[in-house]
Amino acid sequence: MTVSSPSIQELLARRVPGYSLEQPFYTSPAIYELDLTHIFHKEWLYAIPACQLAKAGSYVTMRVGAYEVIIVRGRDGEIRAFHNSCRHRGSLICKVREGHVAKLVCPYHQWTYELDGRLLWANDMGPDFDASKHGLKPVNLRNLEGLIYICLSDTPPDFEHYAEKARPYLEVHDLSNAKVAYTLTIVEKANWKLVWENNRECYHCSSNHPSLCRSFPVDPEVGGVTADGGASPSLQAHFDRCEAAGAPARFLLAGEGQFRLARMPLLENAVSYTLDGKPAVRKNLGRVAPPDAGSLLVFHYPTTWNHFLPDHSLTFRVTPISPTETEVTTTWLVNKDAVEGVDYDLKRLTEVWIATNDEDREIVETNQLGIFSPAYVPGPYSPAQESGVSQFIDWYAHWLERSLTPVRIAAE
Ligand code: FES
Ligand SMILES: [Fe+2]
Repeated sequence: MTVSSPSIQELLARRVPGYSLEQPFYTSPAIYELDLTHIFHKEWLYAIPACQLAKAGSYVTMRVGAYEVIIVRGRDGEIRAFHNSCRHRGSLICKVREGHVAKLVCPYHQWTYELDGRLLWANDMGPDFDASKHGLKPVNLRNLEGLIYICLSDTPPDFEHYAEKARPYLEVHDLSNAKVAYTLTIVEKANWKLVWENNRECYHCSSNHPSLCRSFPVDPEVGGVTADGGASPSLQAHFDRCEAAGAPARFLLAGEGQFRLARMPLLENAVSYTLDGKPAVRKNLGRVAPPDAGSLLVFHYPTTWNHFLPDHSLTFRVTPISPTETEVTTTWLVNKDAVEGVDYDLKRLTEVWIATNDEDREIVETNQLGIFSPAYVPGPYSPAQESGVSQFIDWYAHWLERSLTPVRIAAE
């Protein structure tokens, strides 16, 4: 189908709240392009944990729609992001996903850039060539308590509101003293919104996630998937106990629904995402004192959900790669002094979420296949179990609607 602005607006206008979206939202290349242009190319996007760039010259590359980005740690310890496109004739500079370099050297004609983006060397460009005008184009970047976010827009939206709210919750997890224990990237053959919808409910958990259900509660209130965060007396008691021990906990949904923070209990007797519920790492990452503080659940649309536990942390990054393919990267973070094989066993640390990710991939891909059918029509979300999905879809629809509405300047 061809989608011009009016027809997408029609589709948005006739959307029924509390129901899944019409088929084109999950399949149409034109709507996918709108999603990229109006959401992924404008918003702050979670990229990597800062500790992934262990030393000067460590870099990763990241693709968002048509954009290619390099994120690199400089000699001064600062992490910066640049467009991965040479200022000579545009070649990619870094071709692989991660590595370590002394300088950023273009493979085509060897233009050589400092790690802070300055052009240092370009052969035979003549006496009038001004190297200072040909540095790498920077990409906006923020380091929020050890989590790197980037924004591709030249006029980035406010980041500070989110940062201010999130900082106290994250600070106690001390991610600046973390190291990456493991990273897993998978591709789910489904639209990025289906990946998110699946994440925002645990209606599917008991029948699909046998390993996760040993520690993670399927109760929608405790699973942190409700939209409004209403707390029962027992959940309130959990928040109070964590906060009295210095770990911010209470449910906070803000940024017009773009982000949510809440420290939720795990099942009784479980303190981490392991098959026996016992800690996965002997040296804790951070200063969250109650061992049964549960998991700090953080989402920030459109790219990240996270679980921060007393013993380790998990970040997830969602990157759309086509209308019906989405990359999901999971990173396991542990205390930088924890030694593999001594303080943690890598299999024990990772097996629950490796299995859970694969189970989620399977159900999300199966969801996409059913939506391809011309017989598909939007169906109702469970008010008890899927209010979080509704919240996500409302956020998406309002965000897109707002971006598509031309700003009118009233004549005085
Ligand atoms: S395109 Fe990079 S040096 Fe020529
Ligand atoms: Fe799941």
